[in-house]
Amino acid sequence: MKPIGVFDSGLGGVSFLREAVKKLPNESFIYYGDNKNAPYGDKSEEEIERLALGCTEFLMEKGVKAIVVACNTATGSAINLIRERVELPVLSVEPAIKPPSDIGGQGKILMLATAATTKMARYHELKSRMKEPSRIIDVPCSGIADIIENGVFDPKAYETILDEKLSGYKGMEIDAIVLGCTHYIFISEAISEYAARNFKGSCTIYDGNEGTARRLRHVLEEKNMRELGSERGSVTFYTSGDYEKYKRIFDMLMARQY
Ligand code: DGL
Repeated sequence: MKPIGVFDSGLGGVSFLREAVKKLPNESFIYYGDNKNAPYGDKSEEEIERLALGCTEFLMEKGVKAIVVACNTATGSAINLIRERVELPVLSVEPAIKPPSDIGGQGKILMLATAATTKMARYHELKSRMKEPSRIIDVPCSGIADIIENGVFDPKAYETILDEKLSGYKGMEIDAIVLGCTHYIFISEAISEYAARNFKGSCTIYDGNEGTARRLRHVLEEKNMRELGSERGSVTFYTSGDYEKYKRIFDMLMARQY
């Protein structure tokens, strides 16, 4: 029974892992958080590429049967290269701008992501394929992933930094908020509370995790790689950072309902 490898710059990909375990309870997973090098979002594309390849190698050495890049920033800079180097199925998360774009509407779509993601050619190419790209406003959110990496999840702790990033849109009609960084899913409550207080419109929150977990299940089925036993699979956590510190947060996030 080979495990599925999942990686992120740090803790953000745990939000994907939770979704994947729900959809594929019999599979075993190896999670690798590159916490020592997090956040990726303020680094150069070359540096992100190098780090993402390092994470891929780590998982390959563990003998995984598929890899999920659970980091929008790593996907944006390294996904093509990873797919060139690895013969296994490689899936990835990307900013979920398609579902709200397809629905259409008069209001704007706020896409919150790392500074790196908002600058990447891959993201801009994705955006250009949407029905009305001008509805989408990119909001670089440097600093937010750093706080999450420190294990802070109280919505109140994010009031000031969210205001710093989002106050320019106060009073605007916002149809959707896309969480284009897997870390932000852990503070979606703080983000929707801020939106309810300051924006007009429905401000529906979207993220790419559910779609990617569904695709993962589909790819495994198609390739006859699904674990067929009825026993629950295991989840093993690795980090490039301080194991004790991050394992504690990792366990807490896996157990938490959000
Ligand atoms: N979790 C990552 C993402 O989805 C990035 C956070 C960071 O390392 O800056 O983009």
